[in-house]
Amino acid sequence: MKGLILSGGKGTRLYPLTFTSAKQLIPVGNKPILVRVIESIRDAGISEIGIVIGDTGNEIKKIIGDGSRWNVNITYIPQVAPLGLAHAVKISQDFLGEDRFVMFLGDNVIQGGISPLIADFADSDYNSQIVLTRVNHPERYGVAVLKENGQVEYLVEKPKEAPSNLALVGIYMFDKNIFEAVRGIRPSWRGELEITDAIQWLVDHDYDVHAYIHRGWWIDTGEPGEMIEANCRVLEELEYHIHGYIDRSSEVDLRVMIEKGAEVINSIIRGPAIIGENTRIVNAFVGPFTSIYHDCLVENAEISRSIVLENSQIRNVGRRIEDSLIGRDVIIHRSPIRPKSFKFTLGDNSVVGLLSE
Ligand code: DAU
Repeated sequence: MKGLILSGGKGTRLYPLTFTSAKQLIPVGNKPILVRVIESIRDAGISEIGIVIGDTGNEIKKIIGDGSRWNVNITYIPQVAPLGLAHAVKISQDFLGEDRFVMFLGDNVIQGGISPLIADFADSDYNSQIVLTRVNHPERYGVAVLKENGQVEYLVEKPKEAPSNLALVGIYMFDKNIFEAVRGIRPSWRGELEITDAIQWLVDHDYDVHAYIHRGWWIDTGEPGEMIEANCRVLEELEYHIHGYIDRSSEVDLRVMIEKGAEVINSIIRGPAIIGENTRIVNAFVGPFTSIYHDCLVENAEISRSIVLENSQIRNVGRRIEDSLIGRDVIIHRSPIRPKSFKFTLGDNSVVGLLSE
């Protein structure tokens, strides 16, 4: 089997973080989501992986390279524009050939591995296997309706009123018949070739589409709140170690990971939390549910339930920062310059939540 990861698209709901960089590279538990996806495909025994890339392709190539760091072979498949998940399959036909394959959306975070799922499909005669899970707001996703015997009756993409609470998780398995299906469908109202319509085409043409119900957690990380939620879930399941330095006046919980070269000085770290390589935490409170990436500084400040990307600094902030997604090379500090006012340098579409007095 081969793997196909979709990492194109624009990530508009995560502006300004994703103006220049790919949303699939935002880390949760200090590991980019795309790397989590690559590792779970590799752990299922698949080493030939194609990655569909768009405008942010160069950054993805820079970070992922040829895949040898993860013992896989990566082939990049450029997509001219985000014309839909089924379009991404269409342009990957040369890479996929006649092989059965798993397609994984590069912004999905799922509990547990996918190895049993993939093994089931590899050994079966199914033409496709889809993964479904029960959600509270099915209208945000592709939705499936099953017959009493568990077979797929029909599928619909982001319906106004959802006919069931079973959402399509961004993991799909196909055989070569999917190429005929993607040729047989037309763009949807949102102008995209929908994979949901291609799977419906398979159902309508009596191909065997098997539905697997996933019972753990699953997060489609489209928005900042979902990133923070994914980070919380992942942190809860990490295996913890201390490779950095903690001074005697600091208090560090059991469920805290301190990476190589990191320093914790006169601070409290509440788990679950992770402090990245060469990051310094000085006179500060960090956690719970917080990931600080590498080469950051948190000094005289408090931060909880947040993600901070590399090379950022938070210094002398009077109130606790919470539920925040802070990008790369950001500086948040108390300015000594008068007048006593807020001074911002923010990218387009930034969101700043100030306390109402
Ligand atoms: O996450 C699960 C949902 O993913 C499913 O329930 C829906 O049925 C499915 O259509 C999809 O919906 P989204 O609206 O969340 O898809 P999104 O546009 O966010 O794209 C998902 C990933 O695929 C993302 O990493 C970007 C990438 N992508 C997307 C498009 C449209 C591409 O690489 N190429 C594309 O053309």
